[in-house]
Amino acid sequence: MRLAVNIDHIATLRNARNEGEPDPVAAALLAEESGAAGIVCHLREDRRHIRDNDLKGLRRSVKTKLDLEMAMTDEMQRIAIETVPELITLVPEKREELTTEGGFDIERHFKRLALFIEPVRAAGIEVSLFIEPDNRAIDLAAEAGSDLVELHTGSYALKSGELQKAEFERIRSAAKYAVSRGLKVVAGHGLNYRNIQPFRQISEIEEVSIGHALIARAAFVGIPEAVREMLDLIG
Ligand code: PXP
Repeated sequence: MRLAVNIDHIATLRNARNEGEPDPVAAALLAEESGAAGIVCHLREDRRHIRDNDLKGLRRSVKTKLDLEMAMTDEMQRIAIETVPELITLVPEKREELTTEGGFDIERHFKRLALFIEPVRAAGIEVSLFIEPDNRAIDLAAEAGSDLVELHTGSYALKSGELQKAEFERIRSAAKYAVSRGLKVVAGHGLNYRNIQPFRQISEIEEVSIGHALIARAAFVGIPEAVREMLDLIG
């Protein structure tokens, strides 16, 4: 299982002073040098963490894989096609949320989705949909022409005990189903140093996308150590 590091919160810290430091691009390079297989950033409509110039800098500098998380808007489609990240991940976006809440509602957006995805894929960019671990959503993702699905692990992260085990099984079964539908599978949201280990058992999950916990740990031990500790846990 590979590790993709979300560097949004480096930008959140930088924006607290609106000056240049810490630099999200420098953070991305450190994460890559320390073994991250990809860098993730979410360019939100309100630019609350990374901004357009950060994205340009990331595109110039990231050597592994750049995953641009974004909402399904015309503005973001244009930026994606201009920037050509290796991957975009479509997420639902609400102005008032603190972080992405819930998976993308494919049922609701299905008609527009296939039209939205087509020019992005034609630009040589892979497309992932951030969805709940649910077979119906997986069917629709496959039909809409997605290359990957990112299974939402947020509810797993919020639960404990038997409820968490049940949610884990739901993710395991969705991962198997997605592969049977020809999709590549990644997972993310709310994963941290205490709850990540069981995911080693799900061989279908190729990659995990981790931001908050890893950047929080990096504040104490530095990015290289925080990445290495996570890599040790995911094997
Ligand atoms: N995956 C997606 C689609 C996300 O929106 C986020 C949060 O930006 C993450 C993964 C990372 O979540 P966390 O910051 O909780 O690790």
